[in-house]
Amino acid sequence: MRTQVAIIGAGPAGLLLSHLLAADGVESVVLETRSREYVAARIRAGLLESSTVDVLAGCGLDGRLREQGLEHRGIYLQWPEERHHLDFVDLVGRSVWVYGQTEVTRDLVAARDAAGQQFVYEISDTALHDLDGDCPYVTYVDIDGREQRLDVDAIAGCDGSFGPSRKAIPSSVGRTWERTYPFAWFGILADVAPSTDELIYAWHAEGFALHSMRSESVSRLYLQVSPDTDPATWSDDQIWEALARRLGHGQNGWELHPGPITDRSVLPMRSYVYEPMRYGQLFLAGDAAHIVPPTGAKGLNLAVADVALLAPALAAMINKGDRGAADSYSDRALRRVALHALLVVDDDHAAHTRRRL
Ligand code: FAD
Ligand code: PHB
Repeated sequence: MRTQVAIIGAGPAGLLLSHLLAADGVESVVLETRSREYVAARIRAGLLESSTVDVLAGCGLDGRLREQGLEHRGIYLQWPEERHHLDFVDLVGRSVWVYGQTEVTRDLVAARDAAGQQFVYEISDTALHDLDGDCPYVTYVDIDGREQRLDVDAIAGCDGSFGPSRKAIPSSVGRTWERTYPFAWFGILADVAPSTDELIYAWHAEGFALHSMRSESVSRLYLQVSPDTDPATWSDDQIWEALARRLGHGQNGWELHPGPITDRSVLPMRSYVYEPMRYGQLFLAGDAAHIVPPTGAKGLNLAVADVALLAPALAAMINKGDRGAADSYSDRALRRVALHALLVVDDDHAAHTRRRL
């Protein structure tokens, strides 16, 4: 098979990239190890920044978001006995939107299906070849066990933190900053109306807690726990009691309303930045190049920001032979990532980042 861009990974980065490239007349094939159903159901991010909403609006993908998403002016930060509202609109003139990654994915898949995008799901043994040559290609084994080869002009590595793209770059080329935190988040999804109008980030002596939401009838909440926590060992009552204590149930008349828990998982906390985000004809985007802990609700937003830079850069390179934007892609994308990484990685990295900026 031949196409212009092989996109490895059908997460938000890969899906959005295929959409933006198509708008610029560039053909792509999206390769994905998981099934279509698995990709559509994965529960992850929930908060979209205004820059992400602007990108989705710019390509006509904000219809359901505006109808069903919840626009928030800001967030609450609290510690026991005190809750403070940060009003982003007053402070910086921008709002945030609660709209689940599952919904963003659904909108993207629907748009790509309607446009006839080529997806290949449930592949295995994805491998990238000849990245620094003129004829890069990707090989994989399809769902029927047949070996396939896809010849391309460029490869977009949108395959998340554990995919093969970043690993295909020779180890002498790249640099990595990584920090693993000594705690994790225990996340639950519950069929109950949120007990708050905007997200509450709470410090507590027992550990951090976050009250988020997915809609007017579904709540998403997190508890800081030790990384070796087995979610199955906590009863529903224990979870709600810990959330009530940490989020301040009963303080100034505020109440946390429990409800049926429909999903639970423990997420390790990790910061990871890889540079460069480009090697030859391979371009990394999203979690494939950087992971930030969910505290800042940044991962999906950074993935969208990368792709908003990458799509026009690839289109200019492929359509016009103009390599300028492709050559500067890594530096431009890393500036935004580094600004956030400054807050979350260690002092050495912060010093390095300050020098870069
Ligand atoms: P992914 O979504 O990881 O997609 C990568 C895709 O590549 C996957 O579909 C994977 O199956 C596929 N793949 C992997 N290997 C291969 C291979 N060998 N061949 C082909 N395909 C492959 N971010 C926010 O901005 N706001 C939030 O509120 C927020 N909350 C979060 C809460 C949780 C619980 C978690 C886990 C994350 C959260 N994030 C949040 C982060 C956000 O979900 C990620 O940053 C985002 O999914 C990154 O998108 P991506 O497309 O780069 O990678
Ligand atoms: C979420 O709703 O999943 C969420 C929201 C804000 C965060 C992290 C996760 O900071």
